[in-house]
Amino acid sequence: MRKPLIAGNWKMHKTVSETLAYLRRFRELVAGVEDREIMIAPPFTALYMAGQELAGSHIRLGAQNAHWAESGAFTGEISPLMLKECGVTYVILGHSERRHIFGETDEMIRQRLSGVLSAGLKPILCVGETLEEREAGRTMEVLETQVRSALSGFSAAELQGLVIAYEPVWAIGTGRTATPETAQEAHAYIRGLLGDLFGKDRAAEVRILYGGSVKPENIASLMAQPDVDGALVGGASLDPETFARIVKYG
Ligand code: PGA
Repeated sequence: MRKPLIAGNWKMHKTVSETLAYLRRFRELVAGVEDREIMIAPPFTALYMAGQELAGSHIRLGAQNAHWAESGAFTGEISPLMLKECGVTYVILGHSERRHIFGETDEMIRQRLSGVLSAGLKPILCVGETLEEREAGRTMEVLETQVRSALSGFSAAELQGLVIAYEPVWAIGTGRTATPETAQEAHAYIRGLLGDLFGKDRAAEVRILYGGSVKPENIASLMAQPDVDGALVGGASLDPETFARIVKYG
């Protein structure tokens, strides 16, 4: 049985004081929610304080990226070890904004994933096609390349805790959500790929989140799909009331 994971990706939003105010309110709103896991990924600058604030709570802390090395001459990067000390559990990797705005390649994402796993953190690997790729009928091919290149070379045991997020690029921040059927089709395909790589039993354990304009109004129909195991929520996670409504779907 896969426990749903509802994750908030704040992107480059909220200062330390704004994060603190949010978390104090949000904790009250989701108190007692235990049948699903909740995660929030604030910017790096707020992680330490958020980790202190969430210590002992059931809300998990996530980071939005991580470098592969423990330390070194990598100006502007943050290591998995540094994140771990802040209380981080999950690390989002390969988000389409990292791929498309900052030029991260499949190979870089594979290395980041390796560093995250070595530190004992759980990766949330984001994959998804652009509108152009979808219209050209290349969706499944793109997903296959992204999944295989990130996960090749790892054993099923090494990938314990792996989460995948299917985020069609055309649905991110556009208000245009994938229909539940479109999401299910991609999720089932990704699970099939995981089955080829690691066996059916292991594939059945991996949570696959949907991301792209998730809102309180569409979360329940997405979650009703058999292979949708949670959501990665951007814009709608920035307001504690709205995000709590998403968390408490159904
Ligand atoms: P959105 O972003 O919910 O604002 O579409 C999702 C994401 O980028 O993870």
